[in-house]
Amino acid sequence: MRVLAVETSCDETAAAVVLAAAPGAGFRVASSVVASQAASHAKFGGVVPELATREHLRAVEPVVRAALDGAGCRWPDLDAVCATRGPGLASSLLVGHTFAKAAALAAGRPFLGVNHLEGHLWSPFLDPAAPAPETLGEWISLVASGGHTLLLRTRADLRHELLGGTRDDAAGEAFDKGAKLLGLGYPGGPALERAAEGGNPAAFAFPIGLARTGSLEFSFSGLKTALRVLLERHGPPPPLADVCASYQAAIVRALAVKTAAALEQTGLRAVTLSGGVACNRAVRAGLASVADAAGARLLVAPAAYCTDNAAMIAAAGLARARTGAVSGWAEDIDPNLRFMDVARGSNTLSGTAP
Ligand code: KG4
Ligand code: ZN
Repeated sequence: MRVLAVETSCDETAAAVVLAAAPGAGFRVASSVVASQAASHAKFGGVVPELATREHLRAVEPVVRAALDGAGCRWPDLDAVCATRGPGLASSLLVGHTFAKAAALAAGRPFLGVNHLEGHLWSPFLDPAAPAPETLGEWISLVASGGHTLLLRTRADLRHELLGGTRDDAAGEAFDKGAKLLGLGYPGGPALERAAEGGNPAAFAFPIGLARTGSLEFSFSGLKTALRVLLERHGPPPPLADVCASYQAAIVRALAVKTAAALEQTGLRAVTLSGGVACNRAVRAGLASVADAAGARLLVAPAAYCTDNAAMIAAAGLARARTGAVSGWAEDIDPNLRFMDVARGSNTLSGTAP
């Protein structure tokens, strides 16, 4: 199967073509194009929805054309056209979803709306060295992005189970808000990681949310408050590298503790890491230690597929399309689409493709 996907849920306009020879054969990325708007939003310190929508409108057609050209294919060569349906910014989602639906209709190809979070789930399998999901059967997934932090029991047959989410901020949000408090700019995660280089991660004690509850839920809001209090109460400004290294270490510990608990509670022996926060080297190292201690295999999404991209949407769409799922032409975007809506398979709406 050969699938084209379009992703416009936030501030990247992305399109990709992904192939899979057969179930069990794994995915192959034929092309993946991402036009980032980060520079346009940086001066506002965050994403401005109207600006994002206008930039998507400008970029979507050339980005899709570049993805098709890069893969050396044309519309009739595609088995399905996919687009992110949610969650995300409503007006941003509408651009990619409507473009892809219209193109699919015109080309006479089936259309499938995809849950963005399910895209992050499949991104570790875009690594050419990764095994096919079917060979793992069942595994633990940690998705840590700017909008979500999820621990899941993921199944190749798509009957996923949500083990825990965040009660407040997402891990990426904790990086972004911490960076903002420290005046490090936007996007905050990469800036905070750079500022932490050479710092002492044990210099300051930051709290680990819900550490002793045994639950698999996360909480990061106390961390940000602790940083604000530290900055207010510390006489001379504390050494920046030490503060950043300690703050980063607290996020890593929270992710590590809960992932270790999920492996222990389920007895599973494989774990995947994805989402924008998976770019962070300390996070990768923390998860590698957890996997080692549990005797589990760790699969990390390749850096290019950690932050938002369309290859992961194509992979998720491909996995769903194989089950016969198709969206009706009347399918709408859903800015609040939840993970459990994926688990229940609400991607499979009524309606048939031509
Ligand atoms: O997955 P993503 O691109 O978008 C969402 O779906 O949310 O994730 C973006 C998030 C941002 O919060 C960003 O600060 C964080 O990922 N991020 C990082 C790093 N690179 C991106 N956080 C920590 N360290 C990084 N190197
Ligand atoms: Zn994302």
